[in-house]
Amino acid sequence: MAALRVSYVTYCRQGTGYLFNGIHSQAFLLVILSSAEPVTALFHHTYGCSPAVVASAPGRVNLIGEHLDYNGGPVLPFAIDRRTWVAATPSRDFTLVSSGTDQAPIQRGGEEGARGHWSDYVMGVVRELRREGNAPAGARLAVLSDIEAGAGLSSSAALTVASAAACGRLAGEELSHEALVDTAFRAEYDFVGVRCGRMDQTIVAHAIAGTALFFDTATEARTTVPFPYEAWIIPTGVAHVLADGGFNARRAECEEALRLCRQRWPSLPTLASLDPSLLAEAVGTLPPPLGRRLRHVVTEVERTRQAAVALEGGDIPALGRLLVAGHESLRVDFESTVDEADRLVDLVVGQGAYGARLTGAGWGGSVVMLAPEGRGREIADAAGAAFARLYGRTPAAWQTRAAGGVTVERAA
Ligand code: GLA
Repeated sequence: MAALRVSYVTYCRQGTGYLFNGIHSQAFLLVILSSAEPVTALFHHTYGCSPAVVASAPGRVNLIGEHLDYNGGPVLPFAIDRRTWVAATPSRDFTLVSSGTDQAPIQRGGEEGARGHWSDYVMGVVRELRREGNAPAGARLAVLSDIEAGAGLSSSAALTVASAAACGRLAGEELSHEALVDTAFRAEYDFVGVRCGRMDQTIVAHAIAGTALFFDTATEARTTVPFPYEAWIIPTGVAHVLADGGFNARRAECEEALRLCRQRWPSLPTLASLDPSLLAEAVGTLPPPLGRRLRHVVTEVERTRQAAVALEGGDIPALGRLLVAGHESLRVDFESTVDEADRLVDLVVGQGAYGARLTGAGWGGSVVMLAPEGRGREIADAAGAAFARLYGRTPAAWQTRAAGGVTVERAA
């Protein structure tokens, strides 16, 4: 069960029903969210009828293997116990409402392009489903999530995968997890314009509770690894925006590094496949900052493999040390961290955490921390107090465990 923060919508239980009101209020009410009920209530409040289908998908944390999925390397994410719910029913056109910052339902034409609005993620999914003949003619949709946007926890993949599952079901299709990943990936890559890899959609669709996923993006092989531990999420308070942030620029740098490496090693398939014994030579031939980008990629591949071995063996202190080394590589070589995250990593390690690192794309978002069982709260609080002295705000750390992937929770 997860605590849900319903922004701008006061959500309260009245007798046997639910009520959404006070949309101009900034009051936050924590409710316990364990099912499709809240999004069904939002749907009913907005459209005056019940949804035909409710799908949900989790956010994710990447333990390690950052910026490797679009460079052909391995990644090691798990799904968190916060989710996005999408309730839907067929209609003639598309109407969407969200419990987040938007209050009024909005209309979208099925043929129009991206608008720089959260609904682009859903309409990108609709466009991709249409290409496959799996889209409804129109739909009324309600979206409710307890995954904070911009926190590096893949709220976008949760939304696209859940939307694909819901809309596919409306069109009479039970899409495979592979089809959901493809649809969600193309919606984000082609329609929204984030040059992401496939890590987020893959874990969000395929996650199994209590496990992390070792996903080799070169071969697309997936191996589940037990992850029965608590992990802590510490928000930096710096929100990232992927579509126009540094992400696409970094990817372009990696592509240029690969192009230049191929002048020396023409058959090199991906940046991540460069033999580590050639790294010094390769770094020496690349102009700055491409050498450093390459060094992050090649060393991160090795750390990610070692991390999977450490996790298999239950050696969480060793895993923690790899997380810290991974963060350092992002800070120095990939330059995708922010000061707040660097500080948090230092602070929690100083307080006795096994390790921590900025998770996800970077340029803001959240730090994931592994700590001795039962000590996470104390470590996060002590680090948070020191952080508050530097930045004037206390990060709200929370604990999570590895959750399951996409579900279609209810269908008429
Ligand atoms: C974002 C992208 C992913 C991946 C990470 C960095 O989350 O969506 O595909 O590239 O950044 O590891």
